Amino acid sequence: MAGRHLKELFRAFRMNDELAFRRAATEIIEEEEGKHHFALARDLQRLMAGGSSAGLDVGSYAVLPEPPKDREGDWALAEVRTPERTLDELVVSPRVTATLRDIGTEVPLWAELDQHAVPRRQRFLFQGPPGCGKTSAAEALAHELRRPFVVVRLDAVVSSYLGETASNLRRVLDYANQAPFVLLFDEFDALGRTRDDAAEHGEMKRVVTAFLQMIDKYRGPSILIAATNHPALLDAALWRRFDEVIDFGKPSVHELRRLIRLRLRPVPHKGVDVERYASALKGLPHAAAEKLVWDARRFALMSQRKEVTSDDMDGALSRVTARPW
Ligand SMILES: Nc1ncnc2c1ncn2[C@@H]1O[C@H](COP(=O)(O)OP(=O)(O)O)[C@@H](O)[C@H]1O
Ligand SMILES: [Mg+2]
Repeated sequence: MAGRHLKELFRAFRMNDELAFRRAATEIIEEEEGKHHFALARDLQRLMAGGSSAGLDVGSYAVLPEPPKDREGDWALAEVRTPERTLDELVVSPRVTATLRDIGTEVPLWAELDQHAVPRRQRFLFQGPPGCGKTSAAEALAHELRRPFVVVRLDAVVSSYLGETASNLRRVLDYANQAPFVLLFDEFDALGRTRDDAAEHGEMKRVVTAFLQMIDKYRGPSILIAATNHPALLDAALWRRFDEVIDFGKPSVHELRRLIRLRLRPVPHKGVDVERYASALKGLPHAAAEKLVWDARRFALMSQRKEVTSDDMDGALSRVTARPW
């Protein structure tokens, strides 16, 4: 067994990183197969299939392949993470909550849907202004489904050569065929922009169209989520390619209040008029309400206090409302 793989195993153990552990284990199994130690390889495989310590449900896909790289092998095109955010931490409209929970219930029943020839929903478009929970919701969905969360690195995917961008996308979707992931193409409209301005606008639009066609044809085990802050940039006819379009709108004052309460819950606080702060943040994204509480906690800690006061919140409020969102 190569020392490199052993080191990776030990490192993964120390970091408590199940995904890295599985990747190292996969390489060891492949190496043993290469040496014709089939009985050992099979035993190892069986041990790996016995479930997951982090609660990830990779089913029969006991081995997780290495994320794809670009043609030169210099850049990883995606990053695999164990999801940590949960749906409970999100404050979204009842409709969005219901849709996300539905997907959580539906995905484990795919085999049944297939049997009855009812189409699965596995391509989702998350749209809405920045800071309203698109990225967090994708991660929370992965958590709900106990699947590894794969974030596609669009900066690595987009090449100055248009043909190469399409090949990179193909590599990413091939990867999505190899195990049940929740795969996020975050701010995917960036595909329509170039690294340099050599390409014409029409050509870039072709890349977005090619991407949507690839998504359209995808029938693998993963869930594909594309997120965008700029729905206006996309052609109306493209929505059809998604099984569901979910709107992450700006929060209502009621939702801002819920979010401030939720983030204050684990923290001792005194005399904080949540109502007032929620009204003051009207029109701002969820991320602003979250930052309000973080900043207030920071003020409190910097003055060596355990309790967050309304002075901390007021100081935070003036900062949060002064900055752009
Ligand atoms: N709906 C929401 N509920 C709870 N927290 C949110 C919500 N939307 C955003 N946040 C918080 O704001 C930050 C940015 O959210 P993110 O999911 O990256 O937004 P987006 O992808 O829509 O730009 C995150 O730290 C997240 O916790
Ligand atoms: Mg985002």
